[in-house]
Parts: sequence; structure tokens; C-alpha cells
Amino acid sequence: MASQNIYILGIESSCDDTAAAVLHNGKILSNIIATQEVHQQYGGVVPELASRAHQQNIVPVIHQAIARANIDKKDVSAIAFTRGPGLMGSLLVGTSFAKSLSLGLGIPLIEVNHMQAHILAHFIEEENFKKPSFPFLALTISGGHTQIVKVSNYFDMEVIGETTDDAVGEAFDKSAKILGLPYPGGPLIDKYAKEGNPKAFPFPNPKVSGLNFSFSGFKTSVLYFVQKQTKENPDFIAENLKDICASIQFSIVRILMDKLKKAVKQTGINQIAIAGGVSANSGIRNALMDAEKRYGWNCFIPKFEYTTDNAAMIAIAGHYKYLEEDFSDYSITAQARYKF
Ligand code: KG4
Ligand code: ZN
Repeated sequence: MASQNIYILGIESSCDDTAAAVLHNGKILSNIIATQEVHQQYGGVVPELASRAHQQNIVPVIHQAIARANIDKKDVSAIAFTRGPGLMGSLLVGTSFAKSLSLGLGIPLIEVNHMQAHILAHFIEEENFKKPSFPFLALTISGGHTQIVKVSNYFDMEVIGETTDDAVGEAFDKSAKILGLPYPGGPLIDKYAKEGNPKAFPFPNPKVSGLNFSFSGFKTSVLYFVQKQTKENPDFIAENLKDICASIQFSIVRILMDKLKKAVKQTGINQIAIAGGVSANSGIRNALMDAEKRYGWNCFIPKFEYTTDNAAMIAIAGHYKYLEEDFSDYSITAQARYKF
């Protein structure tokens, strides 16, 4: 099977990015993303608008992915799509389109779990990039999820810790909103944090048992802190933005690293991969590189283009399911809450 020419078209539409990618034997031929600007003015994703924008974007995005890959749609071996988790109205667009295209072309349909795909992005064939070997731990951090996953094989994954409320991406984005920064604020906090003092303002470490996380209290502590300071000095945010951002980022990274250390101790596994939108964050990337030296961990940090939502990760998950002939039938439906 491995010597075969496998072309997988991946389709991602779980949130506010319409994306399509073509992989040839696990290697990227094209990776197209249409990011929806419409949500910025509302300070967050508006589900109904996201669904409508997916409907407008999906045909041109897929066209472009196939054209850039320089193949004919008849060359595609199978279509992989995000079944969930995500926003129902958004997932429905990708799911319906994937089904129709698969039916029209007479090729297999492959459903993919978005969170598994974030992790499997580490298996996209790339020169000079090492791949994790099984078992490893994945810290999956995005706008909707925060999980520590024990990955025993491509599709043998167990969530051993997760957030009990907000996701870490929300902690970044909501903190940014309190500071008056536009959505999504995570990358902006990262940008300003680079020039600030991480120890300027200490934020508390939430007390959550085991390997679970909690971020709703964190956001509240940022809110109370900023309210108190601006009462005393209305220009507090403008005068201290870099230090506030550096302190927020430092505290969030410490929360993540504390739990990772616990997970390594508990499982005896010290191969760590990070995945999801927040894995683009320079603070967590530096902390992991530091942990390689300090604790002897073996860490896997994805290329930036595979951190936030993309279809290449859906296609690589599809590739491995294709090898196992794990195909879906047309009765399959989108699933907003999709655990694995
Ligand atoms: O994986 P993703 O694109 O979408 C979801 O599945 O949620 O993650 C988006 C999240 C947003 O919360 C965004 O603010 C955050 O990832 N993010 C970052 C950075 N880049 C993206 N957070 C902190 N630092 C960054 N550099
Ligand atoms: Zn995602």
C-alpha cells in the first residue's frame, strides 16, 4: 500500500476557517485557508455568520487546493473531512460538501476528528522534521480545547487531562479583550509579551486536581486586576501593556507546564508533542525547548502553518485511515461534540 500513489483531499470547516488541502503520500501538495474576517468586529466567532461564510468559501477553496496541487480531481483517492467537534452550522457545510463530492467522484469518504487531526499534523511528511514515536503525550491547546492526550497509536488516543471550563485559547482571547485588543487576541498577547517583564504582575495558579485544567478563574483574576488598576490610573493598560501581556503569558505557560510535568511523572512518557492554535505561542514553545535541556524530554513542536486550523492535518488523518481502509458511509452526520 505504501508504494501506492495516495492523494487525499482534506476539508476543514469546524469553526471560522474554510480550508482544503491535498496530500500525496502524506506530503503536502497544497494547503489553502480562507480565514473569515467577518467575526473581528464582534469580538468572537458568530456561528451563523461562520456557516454562511463557509458556504461562500468552500467551492473556491477546494478548487484552489486542487489547482495548486496540480492534479485533476479524478486523481483524488479519498476525501477526508472534519466531522467534529466544532460549530454545528460550520461542520454541516464541510460534511455535506465532502459527502457530495465523494459520491460524485465515486471515491471513499473518511470522517476525521478535529482534535485527533491537530495531533496527527505531526505526521505530515516534512524534510528535516522529526516525527514522534508511540507512545507520546500530546498537549492539545486551542480556542475550544485544552487536553493532555496519551497517544498510543494513530487512532488509539486517550484524554488523561482536560479543562473543566474555558479552553486555554479562550483565556488568551478573553484576557486580550479585557485589554481592549481585537479578536483573536492570543497572537497579540504573544507579540507584546516578547517585550515585557513576565514577573511584573503575578496571576494566581488555579487549583485543579489531577491533570485537569481550569481557566475561567484566570480570566476573572485578569479582569479584577485590570479594573482595580485602571480605577487608580486610567492609563494603566496603555502604560503597561507589554508587562501585562508578558505576565499573562508567563502565568498561562506555567499552568500548562505544571500539568505536563505531572503527566510525565504519572505516565513515565517523556515524549511531548504540542498541537492546536495555542501551540503557535512563543512562551510554550520556549518552555518546551527548555524542558528538553532541563528534564531530558523529547519535544515536538509543529510548524506554524499546522498549529491553527488547517486542512493538511485533516488530510494526514485521512491518509492513515485510508491505509487502514477505515471509510465512512453516507449516513454519517456532523457531530458538534465529538469525543474520541
Ligand atoms: O486551533 P485553533 O486555530 O482553533 C480552534 O480549534 O479553536 O486555535 C485558535 C486559538 C485562538 O484562541 C487564538 O487566540 C490562539 O489559538 N492562538 C494563540 C496564538 N496563535 C493562535 N494564542 C496564543 N499565542 C499565539 N501565538
Ligand atoms: Zn482547531
